[in-house]
Amino acid sequence: MASSRRLLAVTLLAMLVAGAWCAAPVTFTVEKGSDTGSGKKQLAVLVNYDMPGDTMSELEIMQHDADDWVAMTKGEGGLWTFESADPLVGPFNFRYFTTKGMKNVYDSVIPDNYTIGTTYTPEG
Ligand SMILES: *[C@@H]1O[C@H](CO)[C@@H](O)[C@H](O)[C@H]1NC(C)=O
Repeated sequence: MASSRRLLAVTLLAMLVAGAWCAAPVTFTVEKGSDTGSGKKQLAVLVNYDMPGDTMSELEIMQHDADDWVAMTKGEGGLWTFESADPLVGPFNFRYFTTKGMKNVYDSVIPDNYTIGTTYTPEG
């Protein structure tokens, strides 16, 4: 009992040190410049992170069945882009970090068959 309580304390501490989990509303809109269909290699996403005074500083993407997070590139107008040498396979997971130390991870936000102009909202 005591050891499991200690484990919980250590886990909570680790979460605090790693940065706060953020529950700010976030949406992902697929923008022009994205490829669609099979063989697509480029994804451009506008992220609406609704938290006054805070800014998303890093956005990472993980493809379906991939093991690694890959940083997306922030461009003009806050557009985040990702270009791959190989065809992209969705659904796509996202992870972000903000200037105020917030972060979150969303699974399967954008489906493989996304369409340009569609806004996707993570579940939960
Ligand atoms: C994408 O796939 C899902 C699940 O198969 C389907 O319900 C949806 O209608 C598809 N959307 C488009 C735009 O093709």
